Amino acid sequence: MKIPEKLLELLSKAQHVVASTGAGVSAESGIKTFRDPDGLWSKLKPQELATIEGFMANPELVWSWYRQRLDIISKTVPNPGHYALAEMEGVFPKFTLITQNVDRLHHKAGSTIVHELHGNIVENHCQQCKRNYEGDVFLSDKKLPICPECGGYIRPSVVWFGETLPHGAFTAGEYASRDCDIFFSIGTSGEVQPAASLPIIAKQFAAVLVEVNPNKTILSNYADYRLEDTSGKALPKLLEEYKKYIKENK
Ligand code: OAD
Repeated sequence: MKIPEKLLELLSKAQHVVASTGAGVSAESGIKTFRDPDGLWSKLKPQELATIEGFMANPELVWSWYRQRLDIISKTVPNPGHYALAEMEGVFPKFTLITQNVDRLHHKAGSTIVHELHGNIVENHCQQCKRNYEGDVFLSDKKLPICPECGGYIRPSVVWFGETLPHGAFTAGEYASRDCDIFFSIGTSGEVQPAASLPIIAKQFAAVLVEVNPNKTILSNYADYRLEDTSGKALPKLLEEYKKYIKENK
C-alpha cells in the first residue's frame, strides 16, 4: 500500500484532523469485529445480547457474555494502529479521536481525549436509577449484580441497539466532523447509525474523507482516498511518511 503524496500535502495544510475508529482497529489486538465473516454477530444474536429488551428478558445471559468479553479485553494490549493514533494528538494543530469501540485500548495506548460513541465496557450503571458502578467488581462475581440503592439491575455502560448515544460524545463528534479538514474512517463497516453519519457530515462540510480498511465498505464510494490495509500497518506507515514529508518540505 502506497500513501499518496497528495494526501501528505493535504495533511500538512490541515488545521483539524479527525479519526473515527471501529472494531477493525482492535482486530490486530485480538478482539473480534462484529460483521466480518468470523465476527461476533455471525454466531451470536445482537437482539439477545445488545438490546435492553434482551437484557431485561435474560440478564444472566447478557452478563455472562459481557463478563467473557471484559475478561478477553482486559488481557489485550494496544496495537501499532492505536499507538499511531495516540501520537497523532501531538502531530496536527488539532486532532479529534472518536470511537465506536468500548474496549478502552485507545486510552491504554496513550490517547488523552477519546469520544466514546458507544460507551465503554469497564463502567456499569443501574438500569433503573442510573447510579454508576466500577466494572472490575463484577468480573469475578458470577451473581447478577443488583443495585444496592434501588434494587434495579446493574448493566454495562455500553450503548445497545435502539439506545441514545452519550450526548457529550456524539455532540463532540458531530462538531468535529463539521469543523475538520480531513476525516479518517478507520476499521468500521459504517453500518451502524448515527456513528456512520459522521464521515458523511464531514464530507458535506468539505472535508477530505480517507478510509483505512482492508475491505470495501458502504462508505468506500464516498472516500477521496482509501488506504487498503489493516490499521496496524497503514497508520504507522502514514505517520512515518508524513513526518518524512514535513522534514523534506520545511
Ligand atoms: P464491524 O464489525 O461492523 O466492521 C469492522 C470493519 O473493520 C470491517 O469493515 C472490516 O473490513 C474492518 N477490519 C477488519 N480488520 C481490520 C483491521 N485489522 N484494520 C482495519 N480494518 C479492519 O465493526 P464496527 O463498524 O465497529 O455496536 O461496528 C459498529 C458497531 O456495531 C459496534 O460499535 C457495535 C456493533 O454492533 C454496538 O454494540 C452498539
